[in-house]
Amino acid sequence: MKATNHDSFKLECRQIKSEMTYELRKKVLWPHIKNDDYSLESDTANETFHLGVYFKKKIISIGTFVKEQNEKINYTKQYRLRAMATSNETRGKGAGRLLIEMSLELLKKKEIDILWCSSRINAVGFYHSLGMIEIPKLYFIKNIGYHKTMYIELKKWKK
Ligand SMILES: CC(C)(COP(=O)(O)OP(=O)(O)OC[C@H]1O[C@@H](n2cnc3c(N)ncnc32)[C@H](O)[C@@H]1OP(=O)(O)O)[C@@H](O)C(=O)NCCC(=O)NCCS
Repeated sequence: MKATNHDSFKLECRQIKSEMTYELRKKVLWPHIKNDDYSLESDTANETFHLGVYFKKKIISIGTFVKEQNEKINYTKQYRLRAMATSNETRGKGAGRLLIEMSLELLKKKEIDILWCSSRINAVGFYHSLGMIEIPKLYFIKNIGYHKTMYIELKKWKK
C-alpha cells in the first residue's frame, strides 16, 4: 500500500482484483463497449497486476500492468501499462501519479527495465509529468482516437 495527502485529499493505492477495475473502465475508457465485457485477455495472466487508488473507500483511479514486450523498445524486461483512468470528478488530485509511482516501485523490485504504454493524445502530458518519453509516431486506435507509445526506463526514474 502507498499513500499520499494532496490538499487534504487522502489517497491510498493498493493492489486490486481485475473485476474491481470494470466500473471505471466502463465510465472513463470504454463507453463504446456494448456487451458489458470490460475485461482484457491479459487481466488474469500470472504476471499481471492491477492497482487501484482509494479515496474514502471508493476506487477513483485504476491501472493494469501486463508483462508485454514492445519490439520498438530495446530492452528485454518490459511491462505495459493498460487501461489507466481516474474518475472525472477526482482528476488533478494526484491519484494517477500515486498509482504510477507505486507501480514503478513494484516493477523495480521485479527488476524490470521498462514500463511502456500506448497513450491517448490527451494523456501524453500526464505521462510526461511522470518522466516518460514518447516515440513520435502517431497512430489511430478504432473507437478511441490517436495514440503515441510512451515509456520510462526504471533505472532513470527519480521520484
Ligand atoms: C490521464 C489521467 C489518468 C490522469 O490522472 P489524474 O489522477 O488526473 O492525474 P494526477 O492528478 O496524478 O496528475 C499528475 C500530474 O500530471 C498532470 N496531468 C494530469 N493530466 C494531465 C493531462 N491530461 N495533460 C497534462 N498534464 C496532466 C497533473 O497536472 C499533475 O502534474 P503535477 O504532479 O506536476 O502537479 C486522467 O486524466 C484520465 O483518466 N483521463 C481520461 C482517460 C485517459 O486518457 N487515460 C489514459 C489512457 S492512455
